[in-house]
Amino acid sequence: MGCAKRVGTAAQCRRARRAGALSKIAAMSPTARSQVHHITHPLVQHKLTLMRNKEASSTSFRTLLGELAMLMAYEVTRDMPTHLVQIETPLETMQSPMIDGKKLVFASILRAGNGMLDGLLRVVPNARVGTVGLYRDPKTLQAVEYYFKMPADMAERDVVVVDPMLATGHSAVAAIERIKACSPRSVKFLCLLAAPEGIATLQAAHPDVPIYTAAIDRQLNDHGYILPGLGDAGDRIFGTK
Ligand code: URA
Repeated sequence: MGCAKRVGTAAQCRRARRAGALSKIAAMSPTARSQVHHITHPLVQHKLTLMRNKEASSTSFRTLLGELAMLMAYEVTRDMPTHLVQIETPLETMQSPMIDGKKLVFASILRAGNGMLDGLLRVVPNARVGTVGLYRDPKTLQAVEYYFKMPADMAERDVVVVDPMLATGHSAVAAIERIKACSPRSVKFLCLLAAPEGIATLQAAHPDVPIYTAAIDRQLNDHGYILPGLGDAGDRIFGTK
């Protein structure tokens, strides 16, 4: 991330940027702060530690990401609407709740978002899948869209936008902007790691969108990577480096 207008060393620049991001989070209204759901369950934290380790193979990284997505699906769907259906138990007839699974859309931000899809769909097999293709311009770190596909009837649907890394927040902001243009019933954002800068940017642009994350890391480096982070999620999922 550039710091061209600021005078100082790279370290001073990073410190100032982090202080800026933290002060933005501190300045958030209690409502905005309550929109950040930090999932601290020991199983989630344990698996995340295994993923962060640079020695983890692509196979285990992918497997762990799938398992984490399943566990995080539990939190992100906590308030999902249900409806009663009549069933016969071996003993009697009863009205019992079922989730409105077809109303849910997992919108994956390519390409790393796809690494969480399998796990999410194992928990909510009836959910639909949307896809947003964005790449980060390496100079500006801004998101540029190259693909967008959502299911029909978005007005009836609840969308969970999925990207393992909330770094600068530019991709998340751009993806959510496009998805909101389809007028879904609600939008949530699910990631594995969030940088304070990304949270601040996303909250500023979309204060109505709750963020679900397994960790809030220290800061971004000058290339927009999360520190301490886990490296390039896409490369680690797909073994491309
Ligand atoms: N995307 C990644 O894959 N990793 C980061 O640290 C930041 C963005």
